[in-house]
Amino acid sequence: MKKLEDYVVSIPDFPKAGIIFRDVTSIISDKDGLKLAIDSLVDNVKDLDFDIVIGPESRGFIFGMPVAYNLGKAFVPVRKQGKLPREVISREYDLEYGSAIIEMHKDAIKPGDKVVIIDDLIATGGTIEAIIKMVEELGGEVVGISFVMELKGLNGRDKLKGYNVTSSIAYE
Ligand code: PRP
Ligand code: ADE
Repeated sequence: MKKLEDYVVSIPDFPKAGIIFRDVTSIISDKDGLKLAIDSLVDNVKDLDFDIVIGPESRGFIFGMPVAYNLGKAFVPVRKQGKLPREVISREYDLEYGSAIIEMHKDAIKPGDKVVIIDDLIATGGTIEAIIKMVEELGGEVVGISFVMELKGLNGRDKLKGYNVTSSIAYE
């Protein structure tokens, strides 16, 4: 039986020279891979006490929504700048191959809400660090963070010290 890591295709020099791109679309284009990925994320967070799953655009949507549905939680999207129609909170951050601005609706998190953040992958940790800051500014509490993949060499976890962080596959 294939393991989750067997479904990941690694592409050298995408989107820039020197980057090894770990492609999650090759996991979810196989029904068994998709099930393994979602089941492992659900397993990582199912015992936590929380109300909301947050997923960043766009790969965080793919993995966050089924986890929220499976565990009977709400889902809040974090979007790239300019996509959300109501009042937003924003953060600029750096990632492995560029920088970006992400946003959340201000009323999506109420003071005291407990949230879990789900994404496909942690590289530098910049995306998740920016989300944590927005959630905490809105009065929410991040009780868990879970990824399908972790790129350990980029030390993203250093930005997430003190948080409950899990990943299903790790690359050195
Ligand atoms: C990728 C990935 C993570 C983030 C990880 O998203 O899906 O969200 O980068 O990098 P970091 O740990 O250095 O922040 P990207 O912003 O490329 O957007 P996409 O999902 O729309 O491709
Ligand atoms: N996002 C940031 N770095 C990445 C990588 N190496 N592979 C896939 N997605 C990424």
